[in-house]
Formats: sequence, C-alpha cells, structure tokens
Amino acid sequence: MADLRVTVAGVEFKNPVIPASGTFGYGREYEQFYPLSRLGGLSTKGTTLLPRQGNPGPRIAETPSGMLNSVGLQNGGVRKFLDYELPNLLQKDTRIVANIAGSTIEECAQLAEILNGSGVDMIELNISCPNVKQGGAAFGTDCCVAAEVTSAVKKVSEKPLMVKLSPNVTSIAEIAKAVEAAGADALSLINTILGMRIDISTRRPILKNNVGGLSGPAVFPVAVRMVWQVYNAVSIPIMGMGGISCCEDAIEMMMAGASAVQVGAAIFSDPYAPVKIIDGMDRWCDENGVKNISEIVGTVRPW
Ligand code: SIN
Repeated sequence: MADLRVTVAGVEFKNPVIPASGTFGYGREYEQFYPLSRLGGLSTKGTTLLPRQGNPGPRIAETPSGMLNSVGLQNGGVRKFLDYELPNLLQKDTRIVANIAGSTIEECAQLAEILNGSGVDMIELNISCPNVKQGGAAFGTDCCVAAEVTSAVKKVSEKPLMVKLSPNVTSIAEIAKAVEAAGADALSLINTILGMRIDISTRRPILKNNVGGLSGPAVFPVAVRMVWQVYNAVSIPIMGMGGISCCEDAIEMMMAGASAVQVGAAIFSDPYAPVKIIDGMDRWCDENGVKNISEIVGTVRPW
C-alpha cells in the first residue's frame, strides 16, 4: 500500500481527498455511506457571520457534463457552526477545513478571529463565490482587493490560511501571486465558472439569479490548466479542484501541481466518489511504483 499522506500548509492529511465546500454539508448525510474518517478531510459549507437564506430558487440548473448553482451562501452562521456542527465533526478523525465568507473585509477577519479558539485545522477563505453581491468574487477578481482581504485575515488568524481563488479572471497566476505575497499559506482553486442557461420557451434564465457557477466534469480541463499555471507562479501549496470525478482525474490534478484535491459536484451523483478516488489512488500508486503520493505533485512534463 502506498503512503497517501500529504501535508498542506503544515497540516497533515491522511490522504489527499477532501470533499469540497458546499457539496458535503457538514458530513451528516454522508455518514450513512462510510465513516468520515476515510476522508483526508472535509471543507465545510461556506460560513458567514450571520445566518443566510441564500438566493431564491430555482438555484440549480443542469448543464452538459456539469451543473450551475446560484445558492448564495445559504448557511446557519458561525455560531451554529461552532455550537452544533463542529463538535460533531471533531469526533470524526478527519481534518476540518472551515470555509469562511464575508461581505466585507472586516467580516472576513472577524470570522477568522472567532475560529481561532475552535478545533478547525485550517481556514479556507472564500474570495470567489460568484453568487453574492458583496464579498465573494468581488474580492477575488482584483489583485489589490484579494491581497487586502488575505492580509486582514492573516493578521488575526492563528490557523493556517488557504485562500480559494476564482477562475473568473484574466490571469489567475497574478491573483495567486498577490494572495501569496499577502501571507496566504495555501491556495485552493478553482471555484465555479460564471455561466447562464435560458429556458427558450419562457425566454427566462433558468436560475432566478440569472447567472450561476458552473462545476462538474465540464470545467475539469480549465481547472487543470489553472492549477498548473498557479503551481508555476507561486511557492505555497495548492488544493486543486474543479470537475474531479475519478481517481485518474485526481492524479492528473496532482501532476498539474496540486498537493491535495477537493471533490465537489461528483458527490451529487455518487456519494461514494471521494472514497472510490482514495481507493483508486492507492491502486494506481501500487501499479505505477509510486511509494508516496506526494512524489507525483507537479510532475507533468510540458512540451
Ligand atoms: C454558493 O453558496 O453560492 C456557492 C459557494 C461558492 O461558489 O463559493
């Protein structure tokens, strides 16, 4: 058996597979399928300071090889996360990545400060949600603002800080460099790609929000390209995500430069996807003479 352990920003994960924020809730619904201890970790649904209802529906639309969502960061707020969700998660013998999102820079810093005293292993600062009017992608699509919010959170946070980047930019490498310079310990990418579907019988957008974020296998090549570009631009580790649905996708993403991977939309059609990927990686390593999965990170040989 290969050694699947990976370390990201000083945090050791027992394997490199982590369900992505917003696709796994807080794990409760998935425990009927397998123990959460099988997972390298999990990234919790984006937590805001106060509870949010999210956007009005419809907020999901199917697309070829993917889906659009415009959820709008529905969640119970950081108090509910700390009092109700986290105590349960901390018993699961897996790493907990707390995804946080603020409408203002101050709110992001406040969230990080609140989480200092908690048992979460890492903060994932979401500066890339395309479905909210304040914060979200507005933070993550401008180098200066992305750096400002990263630096504000880094100043107060006692946890390793990973920043989740938006693909809806001209140069993701430039944003990544700005965020690294501002103190991020790791990066995660990509969040969803802004998209739109129209019902031609009503001539109305399918999503009530008109637009939403595209995820699923359709975005996978874009995600691989962006992870590779960012890997070549920064020195901090990357969690790669975007359309990963099988072990081969995860291996490809790691060869592009990801130290670990997050699995998102695939979980909606197959709740077992993360554990199938973990088992598949183990087999792949044995078949390919790889003793430690970290050996493959960034090993793509460009022409
Ligand atoms: C959402 O809740 O709208 C999705 C979160 C995200 O894309 O960051």
